[in-house]
Amino acid sequence: MCGIIGVIGLSEAAPRLIESLRRLEYRGYDSAGIAVVTETGTQRRRAAGKIRQLESVVEEAPLSGRVGIGHTRWATHGAPTVDNAHPHTSGPVTVVHNGIIENFAELKAELIAGGHLFSSDTDTEVIAHLFDATLKSGLKAKDAFKAVLDRLNGAYALAIIVEGESNTLFGARRGSPLVVGWGEGEMFLGSDALAVGPFTNRVTYLEEGDWVVLTQDAADIHDAKGFRVNRPITTVSASAALVEKGAYRHFMEKEVHEQPESVQRTLSAYLDPVAKSARADIKAAIDFNSVARIQIIACGTAYYAGCIAKYAFEKVAGLPVDVEVASEFRYRTPAMTPGTLGLAVSQSGETADTLAALRWCKGEGLKTAALVNVHTSTMAREADLMWPTHAGPEIGVASTKAFTAQLAALLSLAVAAAAQRGRIDATEEARLVQCLLETSGLIAEALLMDPDVQRITYELSKARDVIYLGRGAMYPLALEGALKLKEISYIHAEGYAAGELKHGPIALIDENTPVVVIAPDDELFEKTASNVQEVAARGGRVVMITDAPQKVPSLSGDAAKTLKIVKGPTCDPFVAPLVYAVPIQLLAYHTAVHKGTDVDQPRNLAKSVTVE
Ligand code: F6R
Repeated sequence: MCGIIGVIGLSEAAPRLIESLRRLEYRGYDSAGIAVVTETGTQRRRAAGKIRQLESVVEEAPLSGRVGIGHTRWATHGAPTVDNAHPHTSGPVTVVHNGIIENFAELKAELIAGGHLFSSDTDTEVIAHLFDATLKSGLKAKDAFKAVLDRLNGAYALAIIVEGESNTLFGARRGSPLVVGWGEGEMFLGSDALAVGPFTNRVTYLEEGDWVVLTQDAADIHDAKGFRVNRPITTVSASAALVEKGAYRHFMEKEVHEQPESVQRTLSAYLDPVAKSARADIKAAIDFNSVARIQIIACGTAYYAGCIAKYAFEKVAGLPVDVEVASEFRYRTPAMTPGTLGLAVSQSGETADTLAALRWCKGEGLKTAALVNVHTSTMAREADLMWPTHAGPEIGVASTKAFTAQLAALLSLAVAAAAQRGRIDATEEARLVQCLLETSGLIAEALLMDPDVQRITYELSKARDVIYLGRGAMYPLALEGALKLKEISYIHAEGYAAGELKHGPIALIDENTPVVVIAPDDELFEKTASNVQEVAARGGRVVMITDAPQKVPSLSGDAAKTLKIVKGPTCDPFVAPLVYAVPIQLLAYHTAVHKGTDVDQPRNLAKSVTVE
């Protein structure tokens, strides 16, 4: 949600904190701030808005010192104002925080009664005051820190400076990720490996409940019970440590264009191109014969990937799949049958609701798996089985390459399940594997649709509402298309199963409401084409994305003028959702660019939703 960085360095901290915050901006971007230990004490600079606003503030009033903390915020408690921007301070204590302190109201009341004055509406400020009060009670800083953690309910990743404890940073993680970065005579704290990437690629992932006291060249790590622990140092790949936009205008555009490689990389982890089968290690890790049902839990785009996977698992493997948004699943009482595999699908592996749903499944004694893009994430570590996607770091807030990587992995797993369960023979397994291995080329072909897609987006950008239609696995893709458009262009969009149109949504059709129809040539094509006729007959403007324009019945009169066809690649229906995801993403991207919205950092959103 928010991004955190802490530095005990050999050089000036302020520029390094800002460099790191720029990389963390994808996590939250409504306000930002830094604090640096200067000769005259800890000083803060904060700004509402993006990191560039903070940079101007720091340019006008520079800070000098080697130790500091920084934060980029996605507001939970309190509006995105300067007063609510982190770091928050009380006496000698300065704090940055990612997460939500659930008992902040009662702590605040207690602290106010004790004479503390608050200057923000945030939950975070109570941590600074509580730490300050605990120090005043006579405890040493480290003991006071532990005592403070013991009183906090909720989720947090923290980085804290205490005046008088020079060359020391206090950090803690519960519910929100935090890593320690190991430099040469320098130490760092960050929300993820990207945050510390400019300074080091050697990181320690703190475990749930860990807290740490960092000094210039050491990390004193304790677990939740207070026992000193050693956590391994991992060398992260250059791609995780260094992410740049290159020649692209936006990260989203770059990530859309990276999909031939990211899908290929992911497929390689699941499929054996020589044996033309699912890889032996994938089959060895799970026997789908012992799985009676899969319960997919996920949020947002990952949820739609799960919905598409349901079509594949049920069709080729005959394996029942239920898919539910994690925020609903976790708060009802789902009836789980024995043999159910709880499968969390998540790019970040940290989404609070998905994680809670995964933990619930574990608590019920179910076997669990996590399909994640961040392989060191909490879900990856807590699930019985980790299925990786290899999309690489996704920075654009709107998920694109992580979505197609999820589809690539899930479809490959459906093939593995079908083979293990005897639903397909070796020939059919080889055919499906070949289809999947060819997707990367088809995605590259789909990217060539860019100019055609772009041409129709000016008109789309003028719309107030847009409807997306699809059938079969194109239905959840229609839902994903609508989500993509609304989140980055702020145009209201809804996806419907094309067959549902007549049951209500058709009332919305008029000349002002464009209808995007995703209809590759499959067994349902004719039915979808009929729906196109129905829309056009009512004056609706249709954008049809298909590889079979010749099969679209010609329209007469004014209706003919309302239909625009964008031709896509021809592919096997099994992999069509992967391929047709591309024009859907391009459509949203170019529409947003026409509208002039902030494509990579759309309003009110954040990349990693670690609060519920
Ligand atoms: C939309 C988007 C979100 C995420 C959702 C889950 O483009 O990115 O809907 O898919 O917040 O996030 P993860 O996959 O990290 O669990």
